[in-house]
Amino acid sequence: MKHLVAGNWKMNHTSREAAEFARRLIEKMKPRPSADVWIFPPFMLIQAMVKAFEKSDVRIGGQNMHHEKKGAFTGEVSADQLLDAGAKAVIIGHSERRQIFQETDAQVNLKVKAALAAGLAPVMCVGETLAERESGRTSDVVLSQLRAGLKSIDRKSVATLEIAYEPVWAIGTGRTATPAQAAEVHALVRKELREILGDAGAGIRILYGGSVKPDNAKDLMSRPDVNGCLVGGASLDADSFAGIIFGAQ
Ligand code: PGA
Repeated sequence: MKHLVAGNWKMNHTSREAAEFARRLIEKMKPRPSADVWIFPPFMLIQAMVKAFEKSDVRIGGQNMHHEKKGAFTGEVSADQLLDAGAKAVIIGHSERRQIFQETDAQVNLKVKAALAAGLAPVMCVGETLAERESGRTSDVVLSQLRAGLKSIDRKSVATLEIAYEPVWAIGTGRTATPAQAAEVHALVRKELREILGDAGAGIRILYGGSVKPDNAKDLMSRPDVNGCLVGGASLDADSFAGIIFGAQ
């Protein structure tokens, strides 16, 4: 399975900074990487980044979307609007959406279905908090988010689905899950994906996210069922992002 290295810029970068990033990353990717590379900039930079990367294989995506097709939802964007801007993918249910914006499993489920129906590849995020891990509830939490997010999903529709396991305690903290910790949860997620989706569950990539850096990416992605990574802070700088991309060889 080809690795996927995805960069989630969150609420960072102006258009000038993004253009400079694109210029540097394109330069760095002259020997073509073997991994897929996706970048998730803020909404208003999507079109410019699609243009900047048009001659490369880099795909651009949104960091969130609303599940309705259109209407009175101030501040939201739809799957069709993301596609119209040139996006090919969308992050759904990131822990910051769940925690800061109170996004529920039910909303995540609606969004995943709407993204798949529209033709956008959803990257659905799951992950436990520190308190949940310390009380031994990691697998309960992760698997219940997975089941709820994929509730009543059509097995035939999931070819473009990606899952990201992101332990909340590792996001932006510099505290990465060890490769063994990541591999343990990824194996559980793989087993559950097979249960929920049958054979289709075997081909879905499971990304690890949480303080991925050039110096730990290679080890993480060499583990079974760690099929790539979702990178926050280290995706903002072209040099460090390239270091992670080429660590996935
Ligand atoms: P981080 O963020 O790499 O800065 O920890 C990862 C994420 O939130 O996707």
